[in-house]
Amino acid sequence: MKIVMTGVNRGVGAALYAAYSEAGHDVLGTARDGSADVTLDVTDPDAFEPFAATVEGHVGSGGLDLLVCNAGVYIDKGQPLDGGYPADMWAQTFAVNVTGVFLTIQSLLPSLRRAGAGRIAIVSSVMASQENAPGGSYIYRSSKAAVLNLGRNLARDLVADGISVGIYHPGWVRTDMGGPQAAVSPQESAQGLMIRFEALGPGTTGCFEAWDGASIPL
Ligand SMILES: NC(=O)c1ccc[n+]([C@@H]2O[C@H](COP(=O)([O-])OP(=O)(O)OC[C@H]3O[C@@H](n4cnc5c(N)ncnc54)[C@H](OP(=O)(O)O)[C@@H]3O)[C@@H](O)[C@H]2O)c1
Repeated sequence: MKIVMTGVNRGVGAALYAAYSEAGHDVLGTARDGSADVTLDVTDPDAFEPFAATVEGHVGSGGLDLLVCNAGVYIDKGQPLDGGYPADMWAQTFAVNVTGVFLTIQSLLPSLRRAGAGRIAIVSSVMASQENAPGGSYIYRSSKAAVLNLGRNLARDLVADGISVGIYHPGWVRTDMGGPQAAVSPQESAQGLMIRFEALGPGTTGCFEAWDGASIPL
């Protein structure tokens, strides 16, 4: 399988990259620090044309089988409701978690279409849920809800192209974002997510699922 994945230099992305590579897949990973196959900052709109050209050159006529939009930020953790959540924090978060995901997908649509049955996996969060709304982390929650909505609408629009779109919660994972107390190791999360991505197809497109297969209330 030919796979492209964003944010592979640490955390869930690094574990997914390692697991897919070990399983023999052809993975092109991105990072913004120059440590991965391709350098990509998803907040740089000018980066997507050269990025798409690199991917095209790599995947060739067979196209791109799986795109994993994993890169994300959570910078409003612990912000106070009164006086917190400054405007630039909203802009920065949405640039990565929403616009960055959309532009990544948009730039790779030609490669995904050529695969015949391309798949797009968007790493959102359980915090995107409207039904589970415990409060707090307004910026992160809103951004992950937005990208869930984006994924579910893309799922409809891309049916005609045979492309399936899934939206996922990776678990509460022991990464820089999840912290050392988190419940799931990056490796466990990656193994679970790989099973979920494998199950993604025309019958499940638009799904919102956790790494362990649990469905999450919208
Ligand atoms: N950990 C959890 O418990 C948890 C729970 C629910 C959802 N998630 C989601 O799972 C995904 C992975 O999270 P994680 O825990 O692995 O986070 P992490 O350890 O903080 O890693 C985040 C990754 O995103 C990359 N990234 C951030 N800003 C970027 C940008 N502008 N352009 C390109 N890459 C950028 C980071 O690269 P740099 O090193 O350059 O910053 C890093 O590779 C995220 O979408 C997150 O929201 C995580």
